[in-house]
Amino acid sequence: MNDQTTPTAAESSFQVDSLIAEDIDAYLDQHQHKSLLRFITCGSVDDGKSTLIGRLLYDSKMIFEDQLAALETDSKKVGTQGEEIDFALLVDGLAAEREQGITIDVAYRFFTTEKRKFIVADTPGHEQYTRNMVTGASTADLAVILVDARKGVLVQTRRHSYLTHLLGIKHLVLAVNKMDLVDYDEGTFDQIVADYAAFAKEVGIEDFTAIPISGFKGDNITAAPSGNTPWYQGPSLIDHLETVELANEAAQERSFRMPVQWVNRPNLDFRGFAGLISSGTIHPGDSVRIVPAGKTSTVKSIETFDGQLDEAVAGQSVTITLNDEVDCSRGDVIAAADDPPEASDQFSATIVWMDETAMKPGRGYWMKIGSQMVTATVQPPKHEVDVNTFDHLAAKTLELNSIGVCEFATDKPIVFEPYDSSRQLGGFILIDKFTNATVGAGMIDFSLRRAQNVHWQPTSTSREEHALMKNQTPRVLWFTGLSGSGKSTIANEVEKQLALMNRHTFLLDGDNVRHGLNKDLGFTETDRIENIRRIGEVAKLMTDAGLIVLTAFISPFRAERRMVREMMGEGEFIEIFVDTPLEIAEKRDVKGLYKKARSGELKNFTGIDSPYEAPENAEIHVNTVDMTPVEAAEYIIKQIMPLK
Ligand code: ADX
Repeated sequence: MNDQTTPTAAESSFQVDSLIAEDIDAYLDQHQHKSLLRFITCGSVDDGKSTLIGRLLYDSKMIFEDQLAALETDSKKVGTQGEEIDFALLVDGLAAEREQGITIDVAYRFFTTEKRKFIVADTPGHEQYTRNMVTGASTADLAVILVDARKGVLVQTRRHSYLTHLLGIKHLVLAVNKMDLVDYDEGTFDQIVADYAAFAKEVGIEDFTAIPISGFKGDNITAAPSGNTPWYQGPSLIDHLETVELANEAAQERSFRMPVQWVNRPNLDFRGFAGLISSGTIHPGDSVRIVPAGKTSTVKSIETFDGQLDEAVAGQSVTITLNDEVDCSRGDVIAAADDPPEASDQFSATIVWMDETAMKPGRGYWMKIGSQMVTATVQPPKHEVDVNTFDHLAAKTLELNSIGVCEFATDKPIVFEPYDSSRQLGGFILIDKFTNATVGAGMIDFSLRRAQNVHWQPTSTSREEHALMKNQTPRVLWFTGLSGSGKSTIANEVEKQLALMNRHTFLLDGDNVRHGLNKDLGFTETDRIENIRRIGEVAKLMTDAGLIVLTAFISPFRAERRMVREMMGEGEFIEIFVDTPLEIAEKRDVKGLYKKARSGELKNFTGIDSPYEAPENAEIHVNTVDMTPVEAAEYIIKQIMPLK
């Protein structure tokens, strides 16, 4: 037993749920001079997690003395409401998730000791574990993996360890808890450590610190060694937390990088680049390179709210001014001139899926990496990882809480580093373009160098010249609607009428293209996404050639129609919704396919067992119930002609 007062179980499992932003400010102010260690605790309530956290807060006589009185003795799980605002100022790594309004279930608590201040993220171990852990762990330096001494290493111990390792947490503490319930038996402790060591090696965990503790009795938490474990010579948990190397300290050893968050230009004489230094050290006079552009300059000054600095290091937020007028904006990275990071647009990454709706390979998601925002298209997983057994499983997509290795491409090159060397430049989130929800988190493993060897070939006859020769403005008339709605018939009519007006056109039709270019594609969601992506690319090339392109594809998903719209110039994409109701298309059943779909003979049929997402803002709306195809075509021509 150590000589600290032993709180009762009720006292030690208190929860701090009344922190507000001002408290955090005050707290950081008071402890400015101390280094900050962020850590997470993994384990279930049964492992004694709340007791341990309560004990840490209590024994360290955490800073909010006035709040101690108010702390609830209730051991109920901390409410999740309010966390997003409460912790907004601190949890910088999660800014992206916060802006995107992800609902997370992670509680952050704060305490200080003589030497350090601490933020502990408590991630509940229930079903949403993966998503919560990713959120809680993305900025942590260390993880405490709790094991019940009576139960030893369990499946969840392995799962938690794997995830913390995957998320790049360099320091692991194996806290063998409830030693009091096994009579502080050395053999039991040694056996658990040996079991864990064997498994740790398997997942690539190189090092961990094992500590026998009792959260309930207080052994080896703040003072060590406890008289109950005379056989243990190592540090107490707090000793270890106070001395372990911080990620920021380690990052100082690496080359300088600072992703630019924003350009500070209060007047014409001052132009500063503000950001958080992700690695290295910088001084006035140092040579830097702006990537991806590659221009170099030297640092003129390092500015902060409290004046200029002679040196700034990883973990500090600063504003840098340069001696030359160079182009540099949000999303660029200021780096050591002689060792800049690479830029690429094709990668292999480990992705954790965090949304109820499964990943859609081929679909464009917003990708936020550092301060860069691009569109990323993910390929079907190379494999999924079973988080309990670490087996590689075959998978076509990733479901909620699953983890897989995927290749993806971005629409423009991004500056990156493998996650293993930089969380800031290697960690990203994926955001659904429609719902704006954070749907995935990822860690870049490496760049696929292919991208660097395929260069854009400048062509000598420009798009404008092609169009001029044809005396027309290229456009895409994108018909969308159910099978049998009349898309092809109307599109054919429109093309005929355009021909009479000497317009140069080309009609791409679903059934035809699926015999050639897209004959390898079926009707699963993934295949339909790829179908439309290819049609979009072809339509784009044809508009580059000066043509008016008509396309007649069901194109059932808004996301892909929007993707093609974004590929085209302003006003070039004209969406035409052929709004024939399902009952009528089905009654006509020109190709007999609805009948087959109803009988189950044909799967994934649009409108029957595969969705059709009707356009919300189509430029033109027609149907084949109130108008004949010829009337619909005339109506369309009237709409587009004034546009010239
Ligand atoms: S899309 O959904 O990927 O845009 P697309 O327009 O290329 O579809 O092809 C649709 C045509 O394929 C339909 O008009 C129909 O003739 C045929 N077809 C065959 N199977 C299906 C199916 N499961 N769902 C829809 N159309 C199908």
